[in-house]
Amino acid sequence: MKDSKELLKNENTLDPKNWSEMRELGHRMIDDMMDYLQNIRKQPVWKKIPDRVKNFYDNDIPLDPQNIEEICREFKEFILPYNKGNVHPRHWSWVEGNGTPFGVLADMLASAMNANVTIGDHAAMYIDRQVIQWCKQMLNYPKSATGILVSGGSIANITALIVARNNLEGKNIRKEGIRAVDSPMVLYCSTETHSCIQKAAEVIGIGTNGVRKIAVDDDFRINIEELKRTIEIDLSEGYYPFCIIGNAGTVNTGAIDDLDSIYEICRQYNLWFHILGAFGALAKLAPEYAKELKAIEQADSVAFDLHKWMYMPYEVGCTLIKNPDAHRSAFAVIPDYLLHHERGLASGPEPINNYGMELSRGFKALKVWMSLKEHGLKKYVTLIHQNIAQAFYLEELIKERQELELLTPVTMNIVCYRYIKPGLSCDQLNTLNKEILMNLQERGIASPSYTILNGKYSIRVAITNHRSRKEDFEVLVKETIKLGEEL
Ligand SMILES: Cc1ncc(COP(=O)(O)O)c(C=O)c1O
Repeated sequence: MKDSKELLKNENTLDPKNWSEMRELGHRMIDDMMDYLQNIRKQPVWKKIPDRVKNFYDNDIPLDPQNIEEICREFKEFILPYNKGNVHPRHWSWVEGNGTPFGVLADMLASAMNANVTIGDHAAMYIDRQVIQWCKQMLNYPKSATGILVSGGSIANITALIVARNNLEGKNIRKEGIRAVDSPMVLYCSTETHSCIQKAAEVIGIGTNGVRKIAVDDDFRINIEELKRTIEIDLSEGYYPFCIIGNAGTVNTGAIDDLDSIYEICRQYNLWFHILGAFGALAKLAPEYAKELKAIEQADSVAFDLHKWMYMPYEVGCTLIKNPDAHRSAFAVIPDYLLHHERGLASGPEPINNYGMELSRGFKALKVWMSLKEHGLKKYVTLIHQNIAQAFYLEELIKERQELELLTPVTMNIVCYRYIKPGLSCDQLNTLNKEILMNLQERGIASPSYTILNGKYSIRVAITNHRSRKEDFEVLVKETIKLGEEL
């Protein structure tokens, strides 16, 4: 024990030796990051990482300390300039939000508090609970429902589908696994549904064969007649239907399924009604979409993101479950070391880990709570509206140009188009549009993404960006045409 004695004579810590140096560095970092965000419009939206920089990413683990000024210099030289770009006004790739400056600060505060928000009587537990209440309020979801903040839409969907799977009458899935169900379990969703549902199906044990992908109509909405027919066939063939997923905004085109009809079918066949609303659920806040999305209020579960169309810093998504007992009984396990106490630190609200898979959880609720207070919900509604208006504006710009083809009418915040040149085959147009897209990104002009609609490569603009302005879409159209002519 000699070494131990030595160690205890001069104990170590990870706190700085020089607090004022650390404080001063922190102030500079904040200045740098505020400058970065304030001036982001002047930067290219994306930059290819040079090989020299990629080599830097491939170093051995540091065994000895490095000077923190030097570490920050490396951050500025090798990391920050090669950011993904979703903080930029002309980033419209996949479906990604921007974050906000105050959100950055909120995340810093949460990080300093470093609360593990899972159990106990401390402020973060109450703020987390408050944010869940606000999430319900935003969607006009029943007050009695339960919910949990998770890392994002994918986990939010898995969380909901675990509850759906575990909630079968007379079956003890938690104990027996899906062996408790004699027949193969199946869920239903459209072919346009995000791939996270396939992953969820694999995770919950029903496998990809347990996902019935129902065809869509010309507007990329689930074909209701085919949905009913498929359920009937499955029942007659001895399958065990248990859930239908309704899309509130598909990833490709932003299509909203006929949620009212899906709800009716769920009632008719006693199926769990889940809403995949990663970004689109929040369009319910805009009066034009309120009716189409009203059925969200009837759903057994809803999964959506706050890092997309609420522009919160990554990561934060949310699952809401209408039946609190179903939710709790899908996850709650209370070992001796997690027992709830009447007083002291282990008292307080019901442990959050009883409502999801994660035991350790960060204080992601703080950035949501602070941001909603900073702007108020009405501002978010205005911004959601603004993004939708921008999508319709872009649609108009595209329709005005004969060199461009709109590939599907705009219904919400996603615009899919391509450049066309007479005489080129579909394959040639696909190759050309892919080139245009890669050039838009490589030249730092704009970052739309892509999808394939009815075999046609599409430049896809998903607008969940509070920094975009009208002129950004004008630049996109002008540069697409310029590249189409040049390439
Ligand atoms: C419709 C839809 N569902 C699910 C997801 C997955 O969400 P996340 O990336 O937050 O896991 C996305 C992501 O873009 C999406 O657009």
